[in-house]
This record gives sequence, C-alpha cells and structure tokens, in this order.
Amino acid sequence: MPGALKQWPTWPEFTKGNGENEKAFAQYKKDIADQYGEHALRQSWLKVCTKLESLTDEIGEKGTSMIPTLSYDEIRDLSPEKRAQLQGVGCFVVRGVVDRPTADEWFQEAKAYVADNKSSITGWPEETPFVLKVYWSPTQLAARTHPNHLALQRELNSWWHDGSNSTSPDPLSYADAIRIRPPKVPFFGLGPHIDAGSLARWVDPAYRNVYRKIWEGKPEEHDPYDLELRKDANQAIFGGSAHSSVFRAYQGWTALTEAGPREGSLLLYPDVQTVVAYLLLRPFFQPPEDESDVMDATKWTFDVSSTWFPGTWRHDSQMLSPSSHPHLRLQSCMVNIPTMYPGDTVWWHCDMCHAVEVEHDGENDASVVYIAATPTTPTNARYIKAQLDDFLAGRAPEDFKSSGSNESAYKGFLGEKSILSGEEGRRAMGFGLAV
Ligand SMILES: [Fe+2]
Repeated sequence: MPGALKQWPTWPEFTKGNGENEKAFAQYKKDIADQYGEHALRQSWLKVCTKLESLTDEIGEKGTSMIPTLSYDEIRDLSPEKRAQLQGVGCFVVRGVVDRPTADEWFQEAKAYVADNKSSITGWPEETPFVLKVYWSPTQLAARTHPNHLALQRELNSWWHDGSNSTSPDPLSYADAIRIRPPKVPFFGLGPHIDAGSLARWVDPAYRNVYRKIWEGKPEEHDPYDLELRKDANQAIFGGSAHSSVFRAYQGWTALTEAGPREGSLLLYPDVQTVVAYLLLRPFFQPPEDESDVMDATKWTFDVSSTWFPGTWRHDSQMLSPSSHPHLRLQSCMVNIPTMYPGDTVWWHCDMCHAVEVEHDGENDASVVYIAATPTTPTNARYIKAQLDDFLAGRAPEDFKSSGSNESAYKGFLGEKSILSGEEGRRAMGFGLAV
C-alpha cells in the first residue's frame, strides 16, 4: 500500500475497560437519541459504514497520492473545481510558501534561540523533549506573519462560509510551539487523533449542532465548511491542555527542514466528511459478539446505555484505534504526507484524523513551526487580544500557560520587531483588533 505504514506501531488500543466511564456520559448519548431518534442514527450508521468500504479501498490503493500537492502560485489562482476538490479531501501540501534560503535561515535562527536559552526551555514529551514550549522566537513570528503565509491563511479561511456575517477570513495569528525533532528517537505520543475537542462534540449544544445532518440520518449532507454553525462551538468545554481555545479552519505545519516518510513526519487520514461521522456515531452502537461479524455494520446493536465513548477522554484530544474504530481500517488509511522541504506547508481540516510517525530514521533534525489558518470570529478575536498581552510580556499564551516561561528575558527575544507584513502582520497579532 503506497504511503501506509509497513508496520503498525504499538499505539494504544481503546477498550471499554481502559476508557473513561462516567455515569453522566450515558445521558449525553440519550439526549442525542431522544432528539434525533434511533431510526435516523441507525440510518446514518449504515450509510457511513457502507461509504467507508469504498473510501478505505480507495485510500489503501492510492496512499500518499490522495493528498494533493500544489505550489504557492497555484493555490493563489485556483479554479472553482480545483478548490472544491481540495475542500473535499480536506488536506494538501502547498510548496514554497517561503523560499528555501529564508526557511533555512529561520531554522538556523531557531536553533540559536533554543541553544542560547537552553536552561529555561522545556518541552514535550518530558523524557525526550522536542516539541519546545517556545512561542515568541523571531523565527516563529516571521513565519506566522510572512506576507505569503498571511495571504495563504486568508485564502484557506475564506473556504468556510458564514451566512451570519459575524466573521471574516482576516487571519489571526494563533501562537503555538516549535518542533525540532532529532533522528533515531522513537515517539509514541501522537497516535491517530482529531483535535478541536473530544467529548465536547457530543455535549456542547452548538458543537453538536454542527453535525446535525449526521444525527438526522443524512451524513452525505454534512457540510464541513459551515462557519456559521462552527464559530459558536465550544471545543474546550471540558478544558485541558490538549484543547485549543480558538477555532482553526485548518491546522498546519510549516517545514524548516527536509523530512520525508519514516523521518518523524505526519500521517493523515485523507477524508473530512465520513471519518468524523463514523467517530460521532460509533458510541451509539455495540459490536456483535461473534468477532467475524465485526465488519458487518448491520450486525451492530443500537445501545445508549453504555457510558463508553470509544477513544474519548474529556481533557484530551479525540483518539482512534483499529479495534475501537474498526471500519476506518486505520492501518491502511493513515498515509504519509509526501517529503517536505524547507518553506513547504501542509494543511489539514480541523476534523481530520492525523498522527505523528513513531520513527525518525533520517539523519537530521526534523523541524516544523505549527501555524494554523485562524479566521476572525468573535471567540477567536477575544483570545488573540489576550494573547497579545501575553506576547508583549513574553509570557506563554493562555492555551500553553502550564509552561510558565518568560521569553522577554530570553536572549534573542525581539518582541514586536519580529513581526513582518506591517499593519497586516500587526493586526494578525491582535494590535488594533476590535472585540
Ligand atoms: Fe494533533
């Protein structure tokens, strides 16, 4: 299978026994079943499992080539058909967003910033930290506010629609960490998962409403780009450091170094409509006793008495595993992104399942800056406004508060001077932002 893992890593499998089983959880299922009815949920379940048969065949066959790759110039001049195709897959690589010498220079500057402030910088995972709790290095600020990057973020934000007119595609700059991953160190911390909350998808009324077509028995009508509904979803209703407080139209990373498959890179499940529908419906159905019937969706039993939401922990991202989510055929469908080069970017929809490779068998550091496409919504603007205060003081932003760093004291911290693109860059950072 081109692009699929040759050997599935020993990522955890999720079972009722090792899950979070709170009494209140059954009520969340009952509330949805009462509102939409067993018939509609079962109808969706059968449709989604049928769709997955052909979808998983296609992904297994095509592998990495399912992930479109295009140049920066191409994405700035898309035909409506091409744009619809990219939206449909929900993930893609945009090459050359910044030129290679610039990205190379950024990487050298990032390494120097980290080396100069080594005694103060912490990271994750604790035993082999390489996701560094650094938010305000000149490299990160420059990458986030580079004119090409801002233009691309604006473009991707505009792919969502909002009939209420209370949002805009103007990009906001959500500060996240930087990753410098050394070779030959395995990392098991990020198996298949979906960000933007976990249990919140079933519990928060606004979030649940985003998926109303799925609950109504019409999963094929689910629109993954409805910002009017999504902008009010509270993905952090349960709190937890895994949950971002802002809505990100697309998550993304920007490569500072070259890294290919088996070099600590990213795996994506290239589908944005069916996987999330399956994930949402899965807790309402119990598998047949005879294991040989598991892939036959008609043999699963509707049951809202169970407290278990497979792969769901309130305070963590939504996890998925082959045994808890068998119809996804994760072993065949988590495919490598293509080789990335300095200045390239990869983007995936906020409902997309993704994972980070366990192995890094290359010879060099694999480094990326996490930069998302974050539109202007009332909730996002409030967060970015507060983030600006943190930035000016050199503090970690609210979503990463636990790191407790003070970068204003770091060697190489330049504050506002690191922002590119003039007023547009400053606006993205929250200056003059009306909330
Ligand atoms: Fe993630």
